[in-house]
Amino acid sequence: MKRRIGILTSGGDCPGLNATIRGVAKACYERFDNDVEIIGIQDGYQGLIDNQCKLMNPSDFSGILTTGGTIFGTKRTPFKLMKVVGDDNVDKVKSMKKTYKDQKLDCLLTLGGNGTHKTANLLSEEGLNVIGLPKTIDNDIWGTSVTFGFHTAVDIATDVIDRLHTTANSHGRILVVEIMGNKAGWLTLYAGMAGGADMIVIPEIPYDIEKLSAACEKRASAGKGFSILAVAEGAFDTEEAKMKKKERAKYRAEAGITTASNRIAKQIEANTGLETRVCVPGHMLRGGSPSAYDRILATQFGVHAAELIAQNKYGYAVAKIGDRISENKLEDVAGKTKFVPEDDQMVKTARDIGISFGD
Ligand code: F6P
Repeated sequence: MKRRIGILTSGGDCPGLNATIRGVAKACYERFDNDVEIIGIQDGYQGLIDNQCKLMNPSDFSGILTTGGTIFGTKRTPFKLMKVVGDDNVDKVKSMKKTYKDQKLDCLLTLGGNGTHKTANLLSEEGLNVIGLPKTIDNDIWGTSVTFGFHTAVDIATDVIDRLHTTANSHGRILVVEIMGNKAGWLTLYAGMAGGADMIVIPEIPYDIEKLSAACEKRASAGKGFSILAVAEGAFDTEEAKMKKKERAKYRAEAGITTASNRIAKQIEANTGLETRVCVPGHMLRGGSPSAYDRILATQFGVHAAELIAQNKYGYAVAKIGDRISENKLEDVAGKTKFVPEDDQMVKTARDIGISFGD
């Protein structure tokens, strides 16, 4: 009996999805020889709901190590709506289970972030054989020291900061660069460090705008004509930190606050009189070819998933723990977020070289 392995990519894409898919496929063909069939599921969980599946050929996985995006397509299918029957009258969980059965799958591999892992756990609880693989530029999946996609995004964001340095220097300006990361500040922290940002602003450390302004003024009065602030998309100030999420959203809408970077830039310019500009690289951080680091990590993760399949070990999420590729129970990963701890060594290192977090 051939093993039939379904693979889907869900949520926001990132570099390294194809490298991971390739790693899984090559390791499975190598290990199980002709006794395996890989089924590509289109557009994440939506494809599982709609039975959009395709039997893949081994050649489909050639030449994709270096390509960005995902050969299967991806979609955001929010976990909170998974159990809600919408206007289309589709019971999503029932449909996903039906596709799994109709496609005669022995297991399902889900490549994605926190939301993807929550649904993976739900399907595992429903009796399907599921393995999660940790993808996200945000690096915020619990239980793994690193996710694939993160280091490529760090490289891209670092390049952005490098380029901003030269133009900021020429014009003697404050440059605020907004880096993706709505909940967790890992990407901003790492790119800020690698790019030599003067200030790093992350959601885990609420900022005081007066302190950020003072740090810019201090640099200006020391003869440093420019400053670079690396600001996470989800950053908020000390006042907003006292509010609940919904309250904060309402407050922002009423105050006409658009983005964290625009707001910080306007306030710094008003406080200091220093000319300020904003740069938002946005989805560029998720595009293009994965870095060498991510190609290797993705391949290791893919190979480990094949190992778990060989052991019939399901209900797990692949992870890097210490310097080893391992796994955690899906139920332990689902519903948690890995935030930057305030006492993280990287935060301390940044502080030790005079980087301000605005706190
Ligand atoms: O989770 C990855 C991420 O890139 C976040 O950093 C960002 O907040 C979000 O996705 C953007 O999502 P979308 O691609 O749906 O705009």
